[in-house]
Amino acid sequence: MQFSPRDDQAFHGLFTFKNSDHAIQRFPFPFPEDEYRYSVNIEPHTLPGKPGSITEHMLDIDEHYLSEIAERERVLAKDPRRCLVMPHMQPAAWDFLEFVMTHYARDYPEAFSFERDGDDCVWRNHLLGLEQAFCMGDDASLPLPPLDYIGRQMQGDIALLDQRDGDLFMDAGMITCPADWSLAFDAGMSFKQWHGPVPLAHEMGVFDRALKYLCAIQVGGPVRRLNWTMTIHPRMDSSPETYAEWGSDRTTITPENAGRDVHLRVELQTLVRMPLSHALFFGIRTYLISLEDLCTNPVWQTRLLKVLKTLPAELIDYKGLTRYLPSVLEWLEVREASVATNTEA
Ligand code: HEM
Repeated sequence: MQFSPRDDQAFHGLFTFKNSDHAIQRFPFPFPEDEYRYSVNIEPHTLPGKPGSITEHMLDIDEHYLSEIAERERVLAKDPRRCLVMPHMQPAAWDFLEFVMTHYARDYPEAFSFERDGDDCVWRNHLLGLEQAFCMGDDASLPLPPLDYIGRQMQGDIALLDQRDGDLFMDAGMITCPADWSLAFDAGMSFKQWHGPVPLAHEMGVFDRALKYLCAIQVGGPVRRLNWTMTIHPRMDSSPETYAEWGSDRTTITPENAGRDVHLRVELQTLVRMPLSHALFFGIRTYLISLEDLCTNPVWQTRLLKVLKTLPAELIDYKGLTRYLPSVLEWLEVREASVATNTEA
């Protein structure tokens, strides 16, 4: 595993983010078929996955770890409300801290270590140069509350859901790179409430079935799913709170710049039952790729074009693609045509 230098890659301003060939190869291309429709696409998070793949470990870390940690610090400094823990979620936050430390140390021993003797613990994050002795469950023994402390060292967004009355509630989390939703807005909402804006899926029964499935997740039985959308520039923080910074980017896309500026944004979502609090951890690891990089794989290029050409109008609208999808389609069609010409020649 190679980790980028801390401030090497920016997800704002000059957008210096770039994927290596390795990152492109392991990118989670989300389309198993030529058409995309909403479904209950949940599967067991069977571990270990293929070596080097994004599902090799419980929590994936990649070459963007340090850059994403720096981006998270930047967002939290401007808006501390991106981290929220309701008082009844304190035990879940500790549960979660132990879960992350255990898995990071086990799966990336060159980068992290975690020793525990009763409640006395020592955590080392070699990538960030941190060493912390603390007492498990004692807030005063850490420099920050537990979710805030470990969230700032974790790649990917975090929601911690309380389960009660056969429903899930968004009662804690750290969300600094959302695809156009807000933790502060959704805080305290139930599963169907926070999914309220999603078109078509409610009528299809997707959320009824998904909720039943999630409430039955047991300790030791994690599951996962992929979700996707598109973003202009490699911008991690596309939240409603910062809409003024990115909303107008959607008007800048042309058939000439679409390959460079439009990015496919894929979320590896993992759901894990926390052992002591029984809270459900919902992890969102976001992977970004420019269409140019994505289309270095001709199979992905052909499939993406087919998916986008047959995407229902409601999904185009909900995902915010309406303004620039025609430019993306034109850019993809030109590339497809040149592949066909080269093959014939
Ligand atoms: C979208 C959270 C699980 C399906 C969303 C949104 C949020 C969210 C905040 C954005 C809604 C908005 O527009 O404001 C969560 C959390 C989950 C969870 C915290 C864990 C309990 C699931 C599951 C499914 C699902 C298991 C399976 C079907 C969807 C779909 C969308 C969505 C289809 C629309 C995404 C798009 O088209 O870009 N989710 N979700 N979610 N969620 Fe979930």
